[in-house]
Amino acid sequence: MERLVCLAIGYVFGIFQTAYIYGKMHGIDIRQCGSGNAGATNTLRVLGKKAGLIVFLGDVAKTVLAVLAVRLIFGSKYPDMLPLLGMYAAAGTILGHNFPVQLGFRGGKGIACTAGMVVTLGPIVTLLEAATFLLVVGITRFVSLGSIIVVIELVIDLAVLGQMGYYGMSQPHLYEFYAVCAALSLMAIYRHRANIRRLMSGTESRIFEKKAEK
Ligand code: G3P
Repeated sequence: MERLVCLAIGYVFGIFQTAYIYGKMHGIDIRQCGSGNAGATNTLRVLGKKAGLIVFLGDVAKTVLAVLAVRLIFGSKYPDMLPLLGMYAAAGTILGHNFPVQLGFRGGKGIACTAGMVVTLGPIVTLLEAATFLLVVGITRFVSLGSIIVVIELVIDLAVLGQMGYYGMSQPHLYEFYAVCAALSLMAIYRHRANIRRLMSGTESRIFEKKAEK
């Protein structure tokens, strides 16, 4: 039951559509521009660096807030499974972000939200994920490729850290923690299916490159 509550709390945070709202404030529907994605990368592409950064931070913040809310609510009752409940809160946020009810379930791909979740999982995983992302995007300038690689790496990072006792949870809770993370990773890859097609056909747009998408 508490898992469903965490998912629901996360969903409520997640439907705050930072990219869409920021776009509307600047007279556009971000979903009709660039890649059509309601996320930080597309906002950067269409409205510039400052806009992209604001949207990124907004999406990170809503996920961190959702996890903190869950920790506040369940911290004293379930201290031994807080990372797992935080994972459910982040999963709810990503679902709300990707499938916002008020926008006909057409939202983003959940990568900035995943970054927010990573921040709540501690400095080691944050550093590992940030290093990989910056390396891949720095070399290729494909944000989508960096995103796909880090969501796969995240499952491995958490499994290694979890088995080392980093999250202090029982083995069943740890397996559930990995499974939810793996499901989120698969969803993120699926959400990037158009990017994968473009990457394979050599038509994916690179970051900081003024080139029409499609
Ligand atoms: O976070 C989404 C990113 O990985 C790809 O965005 O706009 O290029 O589809 P976009």
